[in-house]
Amino acid sequence: MDGNGRWAQRQGLPRVEGHRRGVASVRRTTEECARLGIEQLTLYCLSSENWKRPQYELDFLMHLLEQYMIEERSTIMANNIQVRIIGRRDGIPEQVQHEMDRTIELSAANTGTTLCLAINYGGRGEMVDAVRKMASEAAAGTLDPASITEDDIAAHLYTAGMPDPDLLIRTAGEMRISNFLLWQISYAELWVTQQCWPEFCEETLHQAIRDFAGRDRRFGGLNADSAEGAT
Ligand code: IPE
Ligand code: MG
Repeated sequence: MDGNGRWAQRQGLPRVEGHRRGVASVRRTTEECARLGIEQLTLYCLSSENWKRPQYELDFLMHLLEQYMIEERSTIMANNIQVRIIGRRDGIPEQVQHEMDRTIELSAANTGTTLCLAINYGGRGEMVDAVRKMASEAAAGTLDPASITEDDIAAHLYTAGMPDPDLLIRTAGEMRISNFLLWQISYAELWVTQQCWPEFCEETLHQAIRDFAGRDRRFGGLNADSAEGAT
């Protein structure tokens, strides 16, 4: 979810207004994914690098996060959405963590779309945490280093048990990954829009999904046509 600040500045508004408007895009997008029956939507809310921002902007983001956790509960429940959170807890104010936990618990038995919120998340940090866990298991004798598989690594990431993303949508035109789900996006299709996050709407989502549906995903193999030609 990029471009909140740029969108606001273009409207002559303070950056934080872009974040506030971004919450409306989160609601629209989440409800539309639930309506479409999408298995999982992961939103990159706050990266582990975002702490470099001015304190007033961070305070505003924390306030927005707490408000979101409380106010969106009815929408989450009405749409049968299950909320999960990935990232490190440190640095997140206690009160915000408390509301995060309440929303997670409340929605735990929902069976529709999983809404995974990446908060204080970084892909490299996630790998560091996974390596630490695996190394301590190895030291304790419960994990054999020589037999570690890709599945074992996946099972030690924050996203254990979640599907890998099929489609990665980036707003505000940036052509970079910015430390997002580095392991999990190995074969994700990338889709970039110039629209800033506060402008992102159902139509943009549909466009991304339509383009995705037309992609030829080979996962390193050949598509049916080429394979036929080769024999
Ligand atoms: C994304 O918008 C929201 C967060 C990272 C919290 P930005 O705040 O990065 O917006 P730009 O990139 O400055 O326009
Ligand atoms: Mg940005």
